[in-house]
Amino acid sequence: MTDAKLFDVHQRPLQDLRISVTDRCNFRCTYCMPADVFGKDYPFLNRSELLSFEEIARLTSIFTSKGVRKLRLTGGEPLMRKDLDHLIRLLSNIDGVEDLAMTTNGVLLPKMAKRLKEAGLLRVTVSLDALDDTLFGKINGQGIGVGAVLKGIEAAEEAGLKVKVNMMVRKGVNEDQILPMLDFFRGTGRILRFIEFMDVGNTNGWSMNQVVTKKDILSIIGETYKVDTIQPNYFGEVASRYRLAGTEDEFGIISSVSDAFCGTCTRARLSADGSLYTCLFATRGNSLRNPLRNGATDEELAELIGRIWTGRRDRYSDERREEGRKDKIEMSYIGG
Ligand code: GTP
Ligand code: 5AD
Ligand code: SF4
Ligand code: SF4
Repeated sequence: MTDAKLFDVHQRPLQDLRISVTDRCNFRCTYCMPADVFGKDYPFLNRSELLSFEEIARLTSIFTSKGVRKLRLTGGEPLMRKDLDHLIRLLSNIDGVEDLAMTTNGVLLPKMAKRLKEAGLLRVTVSLDALDDTLFGKINGQGIGVGAVLKGIEAAEEAGLKVKVNMMVRKGVNEDQILPMLDFFRGTGRILRFIEFMDVGNTNGWSMNQVVTKKDILSIIGETYKVDTIQPNYFGEVASRYRLAGTEDEFGIISSVSDAFCGTCTRARLSADGSLYTCLFATRGNSLRNPLRNGATDEELAELIGRIWTGRRDRYSDERREEGRKDKIEMSYIGG
């Protein structure tokens, strides 16, 4: 991706746009949307606050004119948004889009995968934090079993979508699932990535001593397997890549706490209600929806996006302190 057009204060190019299409989810993961906070009284966004598919597509085409080449749909759970394939069809027809992916918990994929693929989706990243049913049911807060997610993964593959799997690792909760997950997914062509537990949002009770670091994960895996490091696929890749020695089996580690990657962060984030965030840990965004609905032209919106990106200084994970920042937006609102 060499045709970047906008660079921020730290010379980071704008290359990716992560689009949250809803702040709702059918899971209540304890580290993301704990059920006691995200209950029926939680102030989820109203329909009128959400960007329409046409509004998302218009903004996306302005972002691509500013150098964005990679799109990822997120949530909450993106498949909670009705007729998501309509949006994918609009996005896949935009000039300059080279990659179109989606992050999902997977359970609605059996119903949707074929339509999504036909509309132009290229790949999905499915979250799965454990192979043990009871533990997984506890983590997702809804008692949903592993089988429902595995069915989703199979449906995605049958439809022709490429699949990666993300596992969030939290100390004392699921680090004993690292090896079973690696054993289960090796040889399948599905790349498993382990994510360090992060202090996103304000509700997950994060503390540094609950983080299983990249070093810890490598040492757990190293007791059973010899591991080789491999080079990144592209500039700004979030996951460090590894291979089980002597095989083609790749896995990744996303070390946003112990070994942050802000120096190569090329990602802008559009929330479901149309605010632009330049960091996952931001406390506030910049509304694009207001000018959009007040009649701004494409040139005016492009200029606004340019101003926001070129003024960007975020390096939250590089500067992280033990106690963390207060009043961060929730990950379910901005997407992962
Ligand atoms: P590929 O395009 O397949 O390389 O995917 P990706 O790794 O860029 O995207 P994915 O959504 O799978 O990212 C995995 C996880 O990494 C996210 O769910 C977040 O938890 C974390 N992550 C992604 N981007 C950032 C980021 O900019 N900052 C931080 N701190 N974490 C991030
Ligand atoms: N720390 C690490 N990963 C998280 N995710 C959600 N919240 C956190 C957190 N606090 C992950 C989910 C999913 C992706 C969207 O982000 O497990 O894989
Ligand atoms: Fe939903 Fe994903 Fe958050 Fe779990 S991590 S509650 S599946 S958005
Ligand atoms: Fe980018 Fe913010 Fe994540 Fe750093 S913490 S990599 S600046 S999103």
